[in-house]
This record gives sequence, structure tokens and C-alpha cells, in this order.
Amino acid sequence: MDIKQIFKNNQEWVRQKLEVDSNYFNDLSKGQNPDILYIGCSDSRVTAEELMGVSPGEAFVHRNIANMVPNTDLSAMSVIDYAVLHLKVNHVVVCGHYFCGGVKAAMQSQDLGILNPWLRNIRDVYRLHKEELNAIQDEDQRYNRLVELNVQEQCVNVIKTAEVQRAHRERGITVHGWVFDIHSGKLIDLEIDFSKIMKNVMEIYHLE
Ligand code: CO
Repeated sequence: MDIKQIFKNNQEWVRQKLEVDSNYFNDLSKGQNPDILYIGCSDSRVTAEELMGVSPGEAFVHRNIANMVPNTDLSAMSVIDYAVLHLKVNHVVVCGHYFCGGVKAAMQSQDLGILNPWLRNIRDVYRLHKEELNAIQDEDQRYNRLVELNVQEQCVNVIKTAEVQRAHRERGITVHGWVFDIHSGKLIDLEIDFSKIMKNVMEIYHLE
């Protein structure tokens, strides 16, 4: 990739934006008021804004390998805290994707160095749902299902945070689990049962 081209692209983008609205960047600089916190994978094929069709300012975004929300990860926890308490988003989305390299790696018995503790969180998801996953004969289908279950479990991790529990009580914030199907380009809503998960989580993880 020609890095210089990126700056040319940027100039062209600025020109196009100003052509439509001469105050575009002036308005952007005044502040942000997004309604969605999007937590997705770092995978270069799974963009946040583009696949949702939203513009700058509309989504607060956090991406890491395999869209994880480990409760000891300072970055993910800070993003949730800031988005929920300060930006006051009303929707938190965890978006996974089929053909996720992180999930694939967690399904294999391999020492991957520093990635081991990160991928361990996905292996824990596998262990939680071992019976269902092991009953799936087809390896690709099992892989897809683990992608979905990982999204579901990361939604549970989002709900375990005090910020989200409080925001749910005070203003009805909701958590959504989605999967991006790279093969078709379609966004799939897993329709996780937010109220049921919230009820189950509150039994043990009640903080607020
Ligand atoms: Co991925």
C-alpha cells in the first residue's frame, strides 16, 4: 500500500464533505453525541461505520481481536464506562463475524504466545457450551456457532458491568448481539434475550 495515497484520499474526502456542507468539520469539532457503542473485531474486513451505514459522530467504536469484553481489560472497561456514563449511549452492540481468525485460533491446540491469555477467554466460551458445540459434526458449522456463542457471552460480560446495570435501570439501555456474515455482507441480529440474560446475570453479578 502506498501510504502517500492515503493522504491524497484524505484530501479528496475533505473536498467532498465540504462540497456538500461547508460547515461539516466545523460542526464535527463541536463534540460527539453517539447513541451506539459498537464493540467489534479488529479484522480488516469488518468495518464498523461502513457495514452499519452510519457517519462520523454516530457510533462510539471499540475493536479488538474477536470482539472480546474481558472484565480485566482496562481498555474495554474504560470504553464502556465512557460511552455509558458520559456519552450516555442507549445501545451497546457486540458484533462478531463468521470466519473470525481469533475464534478459529481458539479452536486449535496451539501455543500462540501472548495471544494465549486473550484466546483463553474464547476457550472458556467453548467450555461453557461444550455439549452444544461438540454435538455439531460439521467443523465449519461448529466454528460459526462458536462465533455466535462468543458474541452472546461477550454481551453477558457487558451486562455484568455496573455502568450498564445502572443505565438499564435508569434509562433502559439495551445490549445487542450481532454477527456480520462476510460471505454475504449481511448483518445478522442474534436476537439475544436481553431481559432474560439481565435477570440471570443479576442473580449473581448484581452491582447496582
Ligand atoms: Co475476527
